[in-house]
Amino acid sequence: MSFVITTPLYYVNDKPHLGSIYTTLICDSIARYKRLSGKEVIFITGVDEHGLKIQRTANNKGVAPQTHCDEISNIFLKNWKDWDISYNKFVRTSSKKHESIVNEFYSRVKKSNDIYMGVQKGWYCVGCEEFKDNPENSPTHKCPVHQKTLEWKNEENLFFKLSRYQSQIEDLINEPSFIQPIERRNEIINFVSKGLKDFSISRTNVSWGIQVPDTRNHTFYVWFDALLGYVSAISQHKNNPTLDESINNGWPADIHLIGKDILRFHAVYWPAMLLSAGMKLPKKVFGHGFLTREGQKMGKSLGNVLDPNLLLSKYGKEAVRWYLLKDISLGSDGDFQNKRFVDIINNDLANTIGNLVNRTSSMSRKWFDNKVPNNENSYFDNTLEQCSKETVVNYIKHFNSYELNLAANVILNLAINANLYLNEKQPWVLIKDENKITLVSNIIYNVLESTRIIGLLLLPLMPDLSKKINIQLGSIYKEDKSWIDQLDWGKLKHESILPVPTPIIEKLEYE
Ligand code: MSP
Repeated sequence: MSFVITTPLYYVNDKPHLGSIYTTLICDSIARYKRLSGKEVIFITGVDEHGLKIQRTANNKGVAPQTHCDEISNIFLKNWKDWDISYNKFVRTSSKKHESIVNEFYSRVKKSNDIYMGVQKGWYCVGCEEFKDNPENSPTHKCPVHQKTLEWKNEENLFFKLSRYQSQIEDLINEPSFIQPIERRNEIINFVSKGLKDFSISRTNVSWGIQVPDTRNHTFYVWFDALLGYVSAISQHKNNPTLDESINNGWPADIHLIGKDILRFHAVYWPAMLLSAGMKLPKKVFGHGFLTREGQKMGKSLGNVLDPNLLLSKYGKEAVRWYLLKDISLGSDGDFQNKRFVDIINNDLANTIGNLVNRTSSMSRKWFDNKVPNNENSYFDNTLEQCSKETVVNYIKHFNSYELNLAANVILNLAINANLYLNEKQPWVLIKDENKITLVSNIIYNVLESTRIIGLLLLPLMPDLSKKINIQLGSIYKEDKSWIDQLDWGKLKHESILPVPTPIIEKLEYE
């Protein structure tokens, strides 16, 4: 059974910003962790290319929507390559393959008697591609997310009978494991308790979309279309994909990882659509927080985005990964601050982990003939062994519950403890006494072995840094052997050669 994880399918109104990179990096780390734990993984990402927002963006540029989508999709692909995103499927909703899946799905939902023609009136946010519930709460009729003026719509649309699924959706969202974190679950429970209303799934004024097969002049509402991207992504057939084939190849998703802004679509509308089509439901929807800058959501429409490529070229992807994954708890918002970024990278990576690797390897090389010393003798001190074992157990527990920041912090704590252990034992004093050589060899072995485990645990979070640590320890990690088994204490072989240490991470300067 595959583990299926998805990022949202990003709108192609603009190139990726740090918010989209953030969600994708989280999924990337989880996907890497699951693969290392022995799971077959289908990591789905991609782009959402239809709808009024994209149509207008292309019009304003004076190019055909497809040309615009091709250009931005290629930029997304290039970014995912630059950030080394280990995705398995990249879906584009303007593809032929996707269109067939949407049409087949629609015919299933129609067969279930869940489609009817009605009139849709309301205030619409083109940025969110969503009707807003209570525009009267905002006297200026502005979208609270995008700060743009809402547009009044009054048109004939096809509707989906969401209201029929009230009790099934209630049962679903009351399952504690379905929506995480708990605050988000409560928001949805509150929303659903007010009674679900049918929602419109077609548009008459949007030409840039998939034509509804049997209703002239209607295209599918972009969200009805886009959510199905998760299903069409799984299909292997380029030309004749079918829902059954996607179902057999891995559907349902184990986790949809999304920002909190699009939780309703994923935790309410989407499951109801799937129920109508007789398909299995995703097992979990995780709504993470926003990256903010000066307290405001970072977004393309707000014009306050941090250019991820600038961060990438200035600091490297490992530093950005560590900051975003370690410093922000997945459910909460996180403010990006330059000074804090530099401090964290310098303290955690350069001073704590980098320094540990460097100084331990140097001491070992100097005193033990460029090799890992022996640990099989009388000196008995299992402080670091215990600490390391606890670290592994906690790390696995945190990763399995998507607490990536806590998983990162337990690794850091092991590095802090290993540094403290060295400072306490002072092997550089002991080595001066010939009778203490056994003692010193055990101390150094314990620290080197902790360092090896730190390197391995970093693999899903910072693959490149992890590889550098492994090289410093003599390239002992075997990719073709179980990663989990290699986390056991004592796998570092004494007498193996340690190469000349080089700094594994550069210190950053303040601007
Ligand atoms: N196209 C829809 C999703 C369809 S999924 C079938 C969409 N796209 S989006 O590009 O506007 O945003 C997608 C996601 O980007 C958000 O849910 C969130 O995961 C991420 N982020 C966008 N801005 C963000 C921040 N400022 N901070 C963190 N993540 C953000 O909605």
